[in-house]
Amino acid sequence: MAAATQPSAPVTQLTFREATEADIPALLALIRSAYRGESSRAGWTTEADLVADERIDAAGLRAKIGEPEGAVLLATDAQGRLAACCELLRRDAALAYFGLFAVDPKRQAGGIGRQVLAYAEGYARAQWGVRGLEMSVIWTREELIAWYVRRGFVRTAETAPFPYESLVNGEALRDDLHFTILRKELV
Ligand SMILES: CC(C)(COP(=O)(O)OP(=O)(O)OC[C@H]1O[C@@H](n2cnc3c(N)ncnc32)[C@H](O)[C@@H]1OP(=O)(O)O)[C@@H](O)C(=O)NCCC(=O)NCCS
Repeated sequence: MAAATQPSAPVTQLTFREATEADIPALLALIRSAYRGESSRAGWTTEADLVADERIDAAGLRAKIGEPEGAVLLATDAQGRLAACCELLRRDAALAYFGLFAVDPKRQAGGIGRQVLAYAEGYARAQWGVRGLEMSVIWTREELIAWYVRRGFVRTAETAPFPYESLVNGEALRDDLHFTILRKELV
């Protein structure tokens, strides 16, 4: 008898939109839960062992939402619950920055991140006509860098300093942090 095929996990149906100031409380909760502290350990990748701060505050998020050359994008599920977010910032005619990428830690590893990145790539192309995305990852996060490489990003030799002086209500847990820069050509 032929072995039964395992049904694959259903893909979460997401609705995307640009965030507004009304979304700030929910976005702060999502971002902090995904990046920091014990809640983030429910996900498969976290900065909990690297940084113990709040990642971003309401003023920082408001600035990103109001940035004329950028956008904070969010994704809700079929029940209207916030599932994920990211930010885009136009750097120049050819390149946009991708960051503040967070998926609800209880719903990670189910394909939501992949969908959000694909949407952000389409948004950056359509909105600004850019041909590339750039992002930065703390150098120690090999599992996350591997995820971006599987999505078509190339790890460059460039680095950027870690913002030890501007952490939000907290501190870094290591003194050797910096960012590795990755880029992806959009086709
Ligand atoms: C990074 C993040 C946005 C990805 O979202 P996600 O919904 O989990 O992403 P997906 O479900 O599309 O992909 C999950 C991937 O993790 C992989 N994965 C699952 N468990 C893993 C583990 N223990 N170790 C390494 N990889 C793992 C899966 O194989 C899958 O990769 P593949 O699609 O190439 O096979 C999410 O993990 C997150 O919010 N992390 C915390 C915040 C953060 O670090 N943001 C990025 C900062 S640069």
